[in-house]
This record gives sequence, structure tokens and C-alpha cells, in this order.
Amino acid sequence: MQVGIDKIGFFTPNKYVDMVDLAHARNQDPNKFLIGIGQSEMSVADQTQDAVSMGINATLRYLDRIDKDKVGLLVLGTESGIDQSKSASLFVKTALKLKPEVRTFEVKEACFGLTVALMVARDFVRVHPEQTAIVIGSDIARYGVKTRGEVTQGAGSISMLVKATPSILALNNGHSAYSEDINDFWRPNDSRVALVDGKYSTQIYLDFFKKTFADYKKQKDLATKDFAAIIYHLPFTKMGLKANRIAVADQDETNTKKLQSSFESSKLLSNRVGNIYTASLYLSLLSLLENGNLSAGSLVGLFSYGSGAMAEFYSGKLVAGYEQELDRAADEKMLNRRQKLSIPEYEHIFNEALTDPADGQELTSDDEVGTWYFAGLRDHIRQYKKII
Ligand code: CAA
Repeated sequence: MQVGIDKIGFFTPNKYVDMVDLAHARNQDPNKFLIGIGQSEMSVADQTQDAVSMGINATLRYLDRIDKDKVGLLVLGTESGIDQSKSASLFVKTALKLKPEVRTFEVKEACFGLTVALMVARDFVRVHPEQTAIVIGSDIARYGVKTRGEVTQGAGSISMLVKATPSILALNNGHSAYSEDINDFWRPNDSRVALVDGKYSTQIYLDFFKKTFADYKKQKDLATKDFAAIIYHLPFTKMGLKANRIAVADQDETNTKKLQSSFESSKLLSNRVGNIYTASLYLSLLSLLENGNLSAGSLVGLFSYGSGAMAEFYSGKLVAGYEQELDRAADEKMLNRRQKLSIPEYEHIFNEALTDPADGQELTSDDEVGTWYFAGLRDHIRQYKKII
């Protein structure tokens, strides 16, 4: 039985920073950010968007096209947790009005969270083929104003419906996983910003890519040329470019061109959104599907990396008619609705979002009608509302 991705929904908050403005404000050559890092914009979440509200908004992109009663599992991966105990997915479940019988929980392993949610969902649907599963990755990447990681921030969510006989990507059996207990990036309980050993993290990312990609090809008796595209977790697009260079290092010109062109297609959305941690690899997938012009049956390799560190390489095959499940114009509209922030405005919003509002203070959102947002705390309980 084939199980895989049947729907994809994307959400990003309604504010962004232009990297040329950020470069000027930080006394850097803009080409360092545009070319050296490979980012042109980054989405910014104000106090009213968090892992829950963004996850709701991403799922709403396709919810009216699915049978809600069939959803038996809802898993949310995040490293921007909103509670030390209660799962963010419970708030999402309520907003989406899913049935009480749904099994739901949150998972965490840095940016690997959505991949493990997807694998759990794949196994769940294999055992319960009449049911479906929703998996969500939802994150705000925060390193801090004037840090080296500042240019690699971002905010957004990807939600996917996993189903038997899927309409987009059929997941192949097997995977290559690799983990080591290291400290390249982490976020202590008392901090809203990540701590990072930046150069070390990029080196480990590439090491783990080499290991899992080689092991996966060996396990499945595949060659690099068998892949129509290889996509990567993109903390910033230059990171994926470096991994892709490794992938094509021993390839002929035709194959190098093919994999370079598919990589170019896969990075377009991340280039404007920034890092969305758990959801970044799946934003690359969406970008590839919308811009890559791949034919049905194409083999797509996916490299997932979560700091700490855990990596996995796996693959899927594109299903005939996958294009009909996409809405490129609506995704473009979502990006274009964002308001450009001046650097002082961004710094103010960033710093304000480092703490919760006072208990009882009501927040309002300036996003579009129908968008869900975090409305503040009442008796220390998080409140979520929809703009009407
Ligand atoms: N024109 C063009 N390129 C330029 C340039 C210019 N004028 N000036 C500099 N560059 C290039 C540099 O040559 C360099 O290129 P290479 O990487 O190819 O050598 C690139 O711009 C970046 O320059 P620096 O190395 O000097 O950048 P930096 O020290 O300021 O920091 C960073 C870069 C380490 C990525 C930092 O932004 C960071 O720590 N980010 C967060 C950590 C991160 O994202 N790690 C990724 C792996 S971990 C992971 O994937 C999990 C996750 O999501 C966090």
C-alpha cells in the first residue's frame, strides 16, 4: 500500500525584513546576506503569532478539502514550544474542530520534528488505512538582534495531510538515520532565543548529509543520477547549496545541471521566508513542487537535519496529477501580503515578542480576516482567536 503526502498548507506571518536593509543597519555588504547566506527576506512574527496559531493557519489552507472525521492522528513538531507540559497540538485540534477521538501530541528534536511526525503518521496510516493524519511543523527562528545568526531567522508553518493512495508524494519504505549527542544549537528553558555554535553546526550538517545520503543509496541500491531532485533542510539557502555541491561532486554535466536546477526551484520560498526550523525541509518541498516542473514518478530525495543532532535521508515518488493539489498563486499572495518593516520596527517587534504579555492583557492582530492569532493570557491560559 502506498502512503504519503496528500495535501500541503503553508502559512507565514504578515511582516518581513528585507535583507539589504538589515545588511545596511549592521554595516555589512548586502551581498554577504544575499549571496553568502543566500537570503533576501525573512518573515517576522509579532506577539500575536506563535507555533499554535501558525499551525492552525497552515492547516486551514486545505482543511475544507478533506474529510475531518477520518483524521485519527494529529502531531505537531516544534522547537518554539508554548508550554512545558500541554501539547500545542491540543489547541490546534480545538481550533480545527477535529473529533475528540483523535490521538494528538507534540514532538521535539530541533528541526527534525516534522520529519519524525511524518514518519509516525506514515506508520499510523499503514496500520489504519481508512484513517488519515495531520502533521504540522511550526516555528519562529530567533537568534537575537545583532547576533551572527540574525540573518538566518524566520517564521512560519507547514501542515500536511498523510493518507493512503496520496495525491502528492508517495513515501518509499526505508530511510537512513544518523544521530550524535552534540551541542551545535540548543535553546535553554529560560531563553526565547537559540544558542548556537554556528560554524560547527554547518560542519555537522554536512557530515550528517554525507553519511545518510551514502548509506541510503547503498541500502536501496540507488545512484545519485536516479534522483530527479534532492531537497534539504534550509536554515538558510546557502547551507543547502553546500550540501547539493557535495551531492553532485562526482556527477556528469547533465546530472549536475538537473540537480542544480531542482535545487534552485526548491530554495525560492525559503529565500523569502527564512528559517522555519521543523518546517524548512517541507517549505523546500513545496517550493520544488511549485517551481520545479517535475514529471509524475520522479524520485525526490529528502534530507532532514535537527541540531543536537539527528539526521535522516529518505525519498518519495511524485504522484500523477500532484500539480492540482498546489496553489502557487495563493502562496505568492501570502508572501506579498506581508508588510515590510524598517529595522527599528523589526527590533521593537522582536524584543516585544521575547516575553508574554501581562496576564489579562488582550492582544489584537492586524492580519487578514479569517487568520487565527494568539490573543493573550487569561488566568495564565493561552487564548486563541480568529479575526472576524
Ligand atoms: N559577498 C558574497 N559572499 C560573502 C560576502 C560578500 N560580500 N561576505 C561574506 N560572504 C560569504 C562568506 O564567504 C561565507 O561563505 P561560505 O559559507 O561559502 O564560506 C558566507 O558569506 C557567510 O559568511 P560568514 O561565514 O562570515 O558568516 P557568519 O560568521 O556571519 O555566520 C552562520 C554565518 C554561521 C551561518 C550564522 O548565521 C549562524 O550561526 N546561523 C545560525 C546557525 C545555523 O543556521 N546553522 C545551520 C546548520 S544547523 C541547522 O541546520 C539547524 C537549524 O535550523 C539551526
